[in-house]
Amino acid sequence: STSPVLHLSVIGTGYLGATHAVCMAELGFEVIGVDIDATRTQRLAAGEVPFFEPGLEGLLRKNLEAGRLTFSSSLAEAVDRAEVHFICVGTPQRPDSGATDLRHVEAATNGLIAAGLRPGTLVVGKSTVPTGTAARLAGRLAAGAPGAELAWNPEFLREGSAVDDTLRPDRLVFGVVPGGTAEARLRTVYARTIKEGTPVIVTDFVTAEIVKVAANAFLATKISFINAMAEICDMTGGDVTELAAALAHDPRIGPRFLQAGIGFGGGCLPKDIRAFQARADELGVGSALAFLTEVDAVNTRARTRTVALATKALGGSPTGRMVAVLGAAFKPNSDDIRDSPALDVATALHRAGGHVSVYDPAAIPNARIHYPYLHYTDSVIRAVAGAEIVLVLTEWSEFREIDPAALRPHVSRPIVIDGRHVLDPAVWRDAGWIYHALGRPLA
Ligand code: UGA
Repeated sequence: STSPVLHLSVIGTGYLGATHAVCMAELGFEVIGVDIDATRTQRLAAGEVPFFEPGLEGLLRKNLEAGRLTFSSSLAEAVDRAEVHFICVGTPQRPDSGATDLRHVEAATNGLIAAGLRPGTLVVGKSTVPTGTAARLAGRLAAGAPGAELAWNPEFLREGSAVDDTLRPDRLVFGVVPGGTAEARLRTVYARTIKEGTPVIVTDFVTAEIVKVAANAFLATKISFINAMAEICDMTGGDVTELAAALAHDPRIGPRFLQAGIGFGGGCLPKDIRAFQARADELGVGSALAFLTEVDAVNTRARTRTVALATKALGGSPTGRMVAVLGAAFKPNSDDIRDSPALDVATALHRAGGHVSVYDPAAIPNARIHYPYLHYTDSVIRAVAGAEIVLVLTEWSEFREIDPAALRPHVSRPIVIDGRHVLDPAVWRDAGWIYHALGRPLA
């Protein structure tokens, strides 16, 4: 006895959508990925992932070959073929207010309705949205596609481990209207991970929307907390890495997201805390999230403090000095440079007159487009050739594994700034380097 295969559509094939489409096909569903950008869907259909994500391209090809996964730029095709539609489009920040630009979410919903969404179909929002969005979209579906249902199912995947996070999530959150069929249908979609023990939280639309931004706000706060402690350590002579290790033994605090350094970047944490604040302001509860302004400020200071540390290590000015920057991506195992702390620091040193050479294992093609004024190289050795200071700004394992003794002859002055606290100061100092990091005393 085989139950009929569920047909899903995934609207938006950016980071979230492409990963979701591939993983849903991997779970055995028939999936159509839809994007208004036809170049993107053509590349995906040809087995090419348009961004760097470990493991994703292999799974894409496998599921294309199995015939479970197709791509299209037509919402009509999605409406014809699928009974569950995941909305995975981007929700960028409006440059004026910090508030969320919902135009892609609106367009996807309106497009589904215009394409003749049938009664009995389920629309599942996964994009990160301000509170109240799901209720509004549900109203629009009720008017334009009677009998179609909406659920809100936020996504918690991390770049760099997106496939694993999607196939084995920490938890599933279903925002639903009581009495509908959405919960049962989402349980069918996610049956495999639920069977493996993933907890399911079934709640209302608003709570589901808030869980997503609250989780990112908490993570951002944790990082800024430890970076604030680094500021205290710098004034007092303490060591923030030893402090973090000691804090981590309290199970109520835990070890994760207590890595001090140049702070958080990427397409989510910085944007989400600003959007969350903007929404709270609109709702008249801005003071409840006023601390997020400080979280943001500590995070920005981690970058300027790194530039100041490098400037001081260079004897007062980067002007005319050879600077090597290792890392461009906002985090390792990613080619994403959105709001990258590494490129922000590199830019500041360049603007101060430094000759900045950048190397990153994955993000250089993206960095070249958006930061054309920096000089790029294709290896650690080339980046550091003749350098008077080396900054490690993204915690790629390639950089953690550098042998400082082997690197030493390539630089003109052996000064290293460890922007992520991933190098062992004793090992670097033994190899003749001057080691600096925020929140750690000079040897
Ligand atoms: C983040 C969340 O972790 C995901 O759960 C969420 O689903 C995602 O945003 C999203 O909203 O889509 P991501 O942006 O991939 O995921 O990156 P994180 O792993 O959270 O790292 C964010 C930044 O914080 C990076 O720049 C990282 O280097 C930095 N970081 C992280 C630290 O500076 N210290 C730490 O201890 C941890």
